[in-house]
Amino acid sequence: MVETGRLSIKGLNVYYGKNQVLKNINLNIPANSLTVVIGPSGCGKTTLLKSFNRLLDEVEEARVEGQILLDNQDICQQEIDVTQIRKKMGLLSQRPQVLPMSIYDNIAFGPKLHQSLKKAKLNQLVEKYLGQAGLWDEVKDRLNEPASQLSIGQQQRLCLARGLAVEPEIILCDEPTSALDPQSSRKVEAQLQNLKINYTIVVVTHILRQARRLADYAAFLYMGELIEFGPASEVLTAPQDARTRAYITGEIS
Ligand SMILES: Nc1ncnc2c1ncn2[C@@H]1O[C@H](COP(=O)(O)OP(=O)(O)OP(=O)(O)O)[C@@H](O)[C@H]1O
Ligand SMILES: [Mg+2]
Repeated sequence: MVETGRLSIKGLNVYYGKNQVLKNINLNIPANSLTVVIGPSGCGKTTLLKSFNRLLDEVEEARVEGQILLDNQDICQQEIDVTQIRKKMGLLSQRPQVLPMSIYDNIAFGPKLHQSLKKAKLNQLVEKYLGQAGLWDEVKDRLNEPASQLSIGQQQRLCLARGLAVEPEIILCDEPTSALDPQSSRKVEAQLQNLKINYTIVVVTHILRQARRLADYAAFLYMGELIEFGPASEVLTAPQDARTRAYITGEIS
């Protein structure tokens, strides 16, 4: 089997105008596991995630140098089809952004865009992805209600299901639980844990306890530099670098 969902970042520099916010990042993100990106506010975590699916194209003052290889293809090349890249990488943002339509249609929307499907097949897909996001049991009797009527925690799992429905290889999450209550956060975390068997997952978080619960691998960013990357058990408990140690002990925040 050819392994897919491998992300390899080589010599990545990102500038906003004259301000360099990512500095020579070299990082191989392992497939079928969950990598957390941690670091103080403003260190470049969101910028790093945005570079992965070419969202910086939409920021006029942003300039990107280096290579981002997705399954050995450099996605920074101009001629790459950005829609295809984004289909391979789902992005779950801080706040759930449900589409103004029913719960059912939120999930059916992506598959319908990419292929014409019979109703029975669509029903199957809707159940499958709501199930994978841990939401099916809670919504199966109200699929035709507007998605906006769900609680915020349910909406975030709906967004996760909608992302899964386009069958990505990689799931990028930028502080995916920061708008959620603790119970909803745990539910989203539990689904990410289940999903990492089949996907490559990258989670930006500033919650160290969450990082410890979730991560197989951890990357510590500080002032635009990748200071340390490795198995979470090492980086989050016995880091090599004094700056990582200062961060995980709360001396710098
Ligand atoms: N569109 C932009 N134009 C100019 N500067 C920007 C822009 N977006 C981000 N920056 C700057 O780039 C740096 C990195 O920002 P980024 O949002 O990646 O940090 P972050 O690590 O995600 O922070 P936080 O933890 O607060 O979300 C910051 O100094 C920020 O002010
Ligand atoms: Mg951020």
